[in-house]
Amino acid sequence: TDEQQIHKGLDGVVADHTAISKVNPETNSLLYRGYPVQQLAAELPFEDVAQLLWTGELPTDAERAAFRERERAHRALDPRVRQAIDLLPLDAHPMDVARTGISVLGANHRLAEDSSPEAELTKAQELFAAFPAVVAYDQRRRRGQEAVEPREDLDYAQNFLWMTFGEEAAPEVVDAFRVSMVLYAEHSFNASTFTARVVTSTQADLHSALTSAVGALKGPLHGGANEAVMETFQEIGVDPAETREQAAVRAKAWMERALEEKRKVMGFGHRVYKNGDSRVPTMKQALDAMIVHYDRHELEGLYDGLEAAMQEAKGILPNLDYPAGPTYHLMGFDTAMFTPLFVASRITGWTAHVMEQRADNALIRPLSAYSGPDERSL
Ligand code: CMC
Repeated sequence: TDEQQIHKGLDGVVADHTAISKVNPETNSLLYRGYPVQQLAAELPFEDVAQLLWTGELPTDAERAAFRERERAHRALDPRVRQAIDLLPLDAHPMDVARTGISVLGANHRLAEDSSPEAELTKAQELFAAFPAVVAYDQRRRRGQEAVEPREDLDYAQNFLWMTFGEEAAPEVVDAFRVSMVLYAEHSFNASTFTARVVTSTQADLHSALTSAVGALKGPLHGGANEAVMETFQEIGVDPAETREQAAVRAKAWMERALEEKRKVMGFGHRVYKNGDSRVPTMKQALDAMIVHYDRHELEGLYDGLEAAMQEAKGILPNLDYPAGPTYHLMGFDTAMFTPLFVASRITGWTAHVMEQRADNALIRPLSAYSGPDERSL
């Protein structure tokens, strides 16, 4: 029957090949171009990981130097982007601002309609470089602060935090931020990446694919979950005066009630990983470092309490958004800015997929089983 041929949510459907990343839920591993993501997160600057995703290989010294120069040359907030953002209300969702920023950058790009492999890589690299200023400016304007100019003596992660907070971040903080960027960068055919590939398959331009991907990422079942995790913490109540143990008890009670009420708790569960998200242990380490750095052990209590109660009741494990949310909170980002941070990272994976789709394209156009009324006359 038609019903048997339907793969609702495309669950289990293999839509194409990719050489960019391999997710293996059985061994709980994630490889970017063959390298385990944990190793990349432990050793490499995010800039190197970006180049690995785009080209398939880690950069040589000469390639690293060339990209370093290009990246640092494209960090400043484009005045046209600034003007466009200024038209958006201060309470617009930061993902709407992110989407608009990318759209303005695309419409103004000298290579906008050039889809050659060289042009695509150039646009990917320049967007990677230019996007942090969009997030930083948006975060600052919400706090009534002036934009901060980028600094060429800082690397990507250092400069991102510098432009957002106007001060040099501590090395531990920079490192936790860098780790989050590496872990969020790529994850095969997730909803937003698949969206980017669908748009690319029509031969539309890279920035159109990217703005569409931002739209897909905004939803709480995907990227929006990192914000939703923090909202859960806030609903339970974040009180720095509390001990770890006190917070854990309240978190457990909250979770038990939430599950009784059949609520979906954000930051738990995954379409692909049913035995745990391969990225969580590395991100949890980064969160632990931040909890120590900022001396906020009550957050550890909330984290552990929710996790344990969910594990006990349903056996469902956390996904990457669960440790990432409180990490960004501790760094000082507003909750609504978390998903744009995910965008900053995933720009690398999305653009790598745009290039891969372009290189061996077939229009993505599935079928549907009609379930409306039979043919009838007026
Ligand atoms: N809280 C409570 N119950 C859950 C959760 C959750 N977070 N996740 C799954 N379940 C239950 C669900 O209710 C269902 O139970 P039952 O069979 O009794 O109805 C069962 O587990 C299977 O869940 P599902 O929703 O059918 O599984 P899925 O593969 O369609 O969903 C998911 C995957 C990520 C959409 C889902 O786990 C979810 O909504 N999680 C919360 C949102 C979230 O954290 N998203 C981030 C995903 S990872 C990072 C990213 O891609 O951005």
